[in-house]
Amino acid sequence: MNTEHGNANVSDNRLWQPVTARWFAVIFGAALLYSILRYHIAGDVSWAHFPLFILNKVTSLAAVIFVACSYLIGRVIKWHNDDPRIKLVVIKFCGLMGFSLAAIHAFFSVCLLNPAYFGKFFDDDGRLNLVGEMGLCVGIVALWALAMPAITTLPMMPKAIGGIRWKRSQRMGYLCLSLVLAHMIVFGWNEWMSPGEWLSGLPPISLWAAIAATIPLVAKLRQFLTT
Ligand code: HEM
Repeated sequence: MNTEHGNANVSDNRLWQPVTARWFAVIFGAALLYSILRYHIAGDVSWAHFPLFILNKVTSLAAVIFVACSYLIGRVIKWHNDDPRIKLVVIKFCGLMGFSLAAIHAFFSVCLLNPAYFGKFFDDDGRLNLVGEMGLCVGIVALWALAMPAITTLPMMPKAIGGIRWKRSQRMGYLCLSLVLAHMIVFGWNEWMSPGEWLSGLPPISLWAAIAATIPLVAKLRQFLTT
C-alpha cells in the first residue's frame, strides 16, 4: 500500500487490469505450485486437505510476498514501464491484495485451529501452549498493522487525515512485516533448524515467507542508515 507518490485515477485503473492480473497470476501461482509440490507431491498430505489446510499456506505465503512487493516496487524492484501511474496502480494492488489474502489466511487458520492440525501449538489439556499463543498474538497484531495502510488507501483519506498522518499510516506496513517475521520465527524456527527433515529438501513455507518479509525491512534500514 505504499502509494506515497500520490493517487492513481480510479477509471484509469480498470485499463490496467491485465497488468495486475499478471502480478496475481505469477505470485499466487508460484505460492500454489510450491505448496502442492511440497505437501501433496513430495509430502503425503491428502488432497482432502487442499481446500483449507493447503490453501491456507498458499494464501499466507502469497500475502507476505504481495505486501513485500508493495514496499519494494520502484526501490529494489526496478520499474521499466515509462508510465509512473501504472507503477502506482501495481503498488496499491499488491498492498490491498496482501491485506485481503492475510485476512483470508486468518479466517482459514481459525477454522483449522485444533490439535489434530497443529499439535505443536497445543498442550495435552487442549489449551494453546506458549508457541501457539505467542505466534497467534503477533499474527493478529500484524493483521491490525496491515489494516492501517489498507484503510488509508481509500481515495478520501489523504485529505481527511492530512499528508503527515497518511504517510505514517503507510509506514505501518513495515511494522506488519516485522511482526510477520516474528510470527514466522515462533512458528517455523524448529523446522528451519532441521533441514534434514525437509520434504525432498524443499524449505518450509514459513522460511520463504520470512525471507520475503526481511527484504523490504533490510532495504528500509539501509535507506535509513544512508540518509
Ligand atoms: C489473525 C491473524 C492471524 C492468524 C490467526 C494466523 C494464524 C496462523 C497459523 C495458525 C499458522 C500456522 C499455519 C501452518 O503451519 O500451516 C500461520 C502461519 C503463517 N502465517 Fe499467519 N496468522 C495471522 C496473521 C498473519 C498475517 C497478517 C500474515 C502475513 C501477512 C501471516 C502469514 C503467515 C505465514 C506466511 C505462515 C506460514 C505458513 C506455513 O508455514 O505453512 N499470518 N498463521
